[in-house]
Amino acid sequence: MEANHNVYQNNSHVFSTEDARRLAGKRLPRLVYDFIEGAAGREVGVARNETAFDDIMLQPRVMENVSDRALSTSILGREFSVPFGVAPMGMCNLVCPNADKFLADAANKFDFPLCLSSAASSSMEDMAGWAGTRAWFQLYFGTSIEATLAMVDRALNAGFETLVLTVDVPQVSRRVRDLRNGLNLPFSMTSRAFWDFATHPKWSLATLSAGVPSPKNFMDSDGISKFRREADRGGANWEFFKILRKKWPGKLIVKGVTSAEDAHRLQGLGADAIYVSNHGGRQLDSVPPAIWLLPLIRAAVGPDFPLLFDSGVRNGEDVVKALALGADFVMLGRPALLALGAEGPNGLNALLKCFADDISVVLAQLGLNSTNGIRPNVIFNKTGATSHAA
Ligand SMILES: Cc1cc2nc3c(=O)[nH]c(=O)nc-3n(C[C@H](O)[C@H](O)[C@H](O)COP(=O)(O)O)c2cc1C
Repeated sequence: MEANHNVYQNNSHVFSTEDARRLAGKRLPRLVYDFIEGAAGREVGVARNETAFDDIMLQPRVMENVSDRALSTSILGREFSVPFGVAPMGMCNLVCPNADKFLADAANKFDFPLCLSSAASSSMEDMAGWAGTRAWFQLYFGTSIEATLAMVDRALNAGFETLVLTVDVPQVSRRVRDLRNGLNLPFSMTSRAFWDFATHPKWSLATLSAGVPSPKNFMDSDGISKFRREADRGGANWEFFKILRKKWPGKLIVKGVTSAEDAHRLQGLGADAIYVSNHGGRQLDSVPPAIWLLPLIRAAVGPDFPLLFDSGVRNGEDVVKALALGADFVMLGRPALLALGAEGPNGLNALLKCFADDISVVLAQLGLNSTNGIRPNVIFNKTGATSHAA
């Protein structure tokens, strides 16, 4: 995507992730807002993901010719127009009807990859139809190896070329907000939820008239959804990875890796890319900030091995920081859903444009013309000056 210099135009009330969060907090039922924002334990880990980004500073450079700036970035042999995509998130249609379709439309408009979750409320066939090969399929281990491999076959038949195996959910964590709100997936109504929905009539009417969202991909051979949110997904182990690697002919990405040792082992076993993520603090409260782990994993896998990153990215500056610290591509999680919750597709497109515009402006500040020029030396280093020649 060429730099868009009209960086101030926006027909939405969403100018930042913080705006999206505030508006979504007003417009969504508590149960849905908490499903997006909630995390494991005391939710310190999710906060740390964000503050760790705030503690990283960038070193401006001046007097370079930065009038032409390009955001196009390649990952796994394919060029996209922006260096970010959207992370897999289950049950997006709880946020607003057609949320997955709106995400697909945005993926086509901005030209970025979009991961459809195994736990999505849209089918993989629908998503493949909407976003073609921009759509990647995210795999959770299901009720058995057979059921999981059947889902893989289904993804292949639907035309997916890129599979993302999530490995950081051996057991779904206790998320206090969801427990308190009585959130069950597949969804079932509780008296608390009834009151919550009654006080958000606009959301409730829209959601009810579109049909209560349900998981569309965890089917067994009888065609009935076997999705249980609390199910054990520990079958995504080293043995399973070897089976999957043999079976999947396309690109295979492993998501949820936070240890340099695990990353190195996966690289040796034939993963095409590692997706560094701590699941946005949703799995382990005491997990280190994902952005701290990224340079350690980059060091373990070497300079050329593809790395994706998410967890705590809230604006374009964060995207640039992640690219500088070793990521080849950056994925957005909560911000996308909050923007949809705030203003539907209008809010989503506005926030994505904010990300793209921010990145372009930051490139100018750093004296760079493209995302390819982003190196570790753009990170401010208290101990000494950096050189642009690096
Ligand atoms: C509502 C919600 C649902 C999610 N569902 C999934 C999922 O089904 N599969 C998965 O691999 N990750 C899932 N994630 C994790 C995201 O892919 C991503 O790792 C996380 O949101 C990054 O943290 P951040 O949103 O705070 O930046 C989910 C995250 C959220 C917020």
